[in-house]
Amino acid sequence: MPKTILTGLRPTGNLHLGHLFGAGQNYVKLQNDYDFYLEIADVQALTDNFNNPEKVRKNVMEITIDLLSIGLNPEKVHFFIQSRIPEIAELTVFYSNLVTVARLERNPTVKTEIAQKKDLFGNNGESITYGFLGYPVSQAADITAFDGEIVPVGEDQLPLIEQCREIVRKFNSIYGKTLKEPDAILSNTKRVKGLDGNDKMGKSLGNAIFLNDDEKTITKKIMSAVTDPQKIKKDDPANPEICMVYYYHNLINTKRNTEKICQECKKGSRGCVQCKKELIEAMNNFLKPIKEKRAYYEEHPEKVKEILEEGTKKAKEKAEQQMKKVKEAMKINY
Ligand code: TRP
Repeated sequence: MPKTILTGLRPTGNLHLGHLFGAGQNYVKLQNDYDFYLEIADVQALTDNFNNPEKVRKNVMEITIDLLSIGLNPEKVHFFIQSRIPEIAELTVFYSNLVTVARLERNPTVKTEIAQKKDLFGNNGESITYGFLGYPVSQAADITAFDGEIVPVGEDQLPLIEQCREIVRKFNSIYGKTLKEPDAILSNTKRVKGLDGNDKMGKSLGNAIFLNDDEKTITKKIMSAVTDPQKIKKDDPANPEICMVYYYHNLINTKRNTEKICQECKKGSRGCVQCKKELIEAMNNFLKPIKEKRAYYEEHPEKVKEILEEGTKKAKEKAEQQMKKVKEAMKINY
């Protein structure tokens, strides 16, 4: 039996290059060797978007299309919608007895997010909701409802997986060995930098190239990407190591082209405008197969719905079995 993988994404926006290199490409590899459950975490998205349900609803379809268009195969991956699996909500209630409020308040991921969401939760987190503080408990339910053994995530998520493992150990020690302790695996690719040179590409940072950006948008974004500030004239030699245009060439262009670009840039025989134009073309070529798949699914939304329906059905069966075991262990199997 292949091991079970479970991971989730909050449907709050389209995927960008950071998601593709940091996670998506890894999922595409993993789908061949594991029983892969991929949760569209709409309930979790609502914990910090409770006042914007339209956004979450729209992005359930959008993110599913993004994931299909990067090459996830619906024959191999069970795509499912979190809110359609009530067992997750039920487990969340049971697990909430096994976690202290102080422990949740200490969770580094939660702490960072509260600090980033001052508009929603107040300057010192004084307006934090019960639901948001508790979302690590719900995420532990996401994982264990499907007997998830391996959880591919970014580094920022490690404290949440650790919290899940603690809940599992506590559950097993009180009610008898029932749940598996999941292991996190990190995506092997590095973090993708933003167009502005920031260490991280992010939607809220406004420095991202989205997988569904049209050619006009890509041109505009790349033309404004940060280059070596010392290079003023077209034939000034420059340092490609601090240039975002070179950085993206390196990411998506061929090795041969990239080496040539590097040499020419250092020598001063290549202008930034030419270099950006070449990057625009390379980026469009790189994104072309992804966009073709996206166009197909946009024209066939019924196929996307069917994929979600099938995956949700499969996920629900698995969660029901798991719930039976949990209720038995907790002596609430009336
Ligand atoms: N918290 C994750 C994120 O923001 C999304 C997520 C929800 C998740 N449920 C999960 C990740 C279960 C791993 C396992 O990216």
